[in-house]
Amino acid sequence: MLTTKPEHAGAQLTIDLAAICANWRLLRARLERATCAAVVKADAYGLGAACVAPALAAAGCRHFFVAHLDEAIALRPHLPEYTALYVLHGSPPGAEGEFLAHDLIPVLNSLPQVDAWTALAGRQGAALPALLQVDTGMSRLGLSAEELAIVASDQRRLDGIALRYVMSHLACAEQQDHPMNRQQLAAFREALRALPQARASLANSSGIFLDRDYHFDLARPGAALYGIAPIAGQPNPMRQVVRLQGKVIQVRGIPAGAVVGYGATYRAGSTRRIATVTVGYADGFLRSLSNRTVAWFGETPLPLVGIVAMDTITLDVSELGAEALQPGSLIDLISEQHPVDALAQEAGTIGYEILTGLGGRYFRHYVGG
Ligand SMILES: Cc1ncc(COP(=O)(O)O)c(C=O)c1O
Repeated sequence: MLTTKPEHAGAQLTIDLAAICANWRLLRARLERATCAAVVKADAYGLGAACVAPALAAAGCRHFFVAHLDEAIALRPHLPEYTALYVLHGSPPGAEGEFLAHDLIPVLNSLPQVDAWTALAGRQGAALPALLQVDTGMSRLGLSAEELAIVASDQRRLDGIALRYVMSHLACAEQQDHPMNRQQLAAFREALRALPQARASLANSSGIFLDRDYHFDLARPGAALYGIAPIAGQPNPMRQVVRLQGKVIQVRGIPAGAVVGYGATYRAGSTRRIATVTVGYADGFLRSLSNRTVAWFGETPLPLVGIVAMDTITLDVSELGAEALQPGSLIDLISEQHPVDALAQEAGTIGYEILTGLGGRYFRHYVGG
């Protein structure tokens, strides 16, 4: 569903493109030698790749990553020709020709993907650009050490691949002292010995905040661009990107003893005023936030009481003056005071899930573009 008028929408999502670009510059500044890419998969983590990626390209970003072929086909027309658009999952079997047709670069994650790509290169009579992913301990995608040795020793395969980067992905980088980081770094260095001329890419957002050893030639940040804290338990150096505002549609007084919402999970201990706000779990405002979060009206925190419903939440607004809220008043759900990571923690999840789950019913307002 596309909401085109703010006055019709239940809630508003403001996305600060200037903040995303500032975050990209901050990450790039941490990389002394390496190039800084941008991961814009899952519709730029829910924020709209068709707006986010061109803004980043205008800021100087030249390398973009999505997960699926179809995401890349949809995004390619929004990006300048001189940018590289990589598909993390590589080609589905038989779809390799689409990469040439749309100027896309696959990440080759398995021997069959390598073989299909080199076969296409053979038919084209020229090596074709690709990234090669190696598994360094996450056991998710990429060649094992043995498979890499097979590729590295086969001139026919190597001749078919114009290798842009060898890449791998860190499993625990947001925990800076996690032993897995060093183990993966060692495994990655070992893998690179098989292809000593190749450029390399390892770091995601959090990897950029590990020491320089992790930076290699290309970093692939996603979450930090969108304001998510890259280091667990430390102050967030990234700029806030998202503001989510729900709209009040009704305010009512309730007596002591009255209950609120499905399942009657909240019972008023005294006379209260309750505002009904039009955002719910169908908008990605998770049900696990029931009775567990606060919204803000200016400087006033407003506890969410009762269960998050499909289209509405209910807030205790008794702290506000009786006339402070009217139908149409906007209440902050994600904001500077209450960033996405705080909401995620209250919901028992991570900021990534909150952002990528943001629904299609918001009026989306892009600023700073
Ligand atoms: C292979 C790969 N590289 C980079 C990223 C970006 O990671 P982050 O959003 O933590 O910066 C992801 C995200 O999941 C990924 O799968």
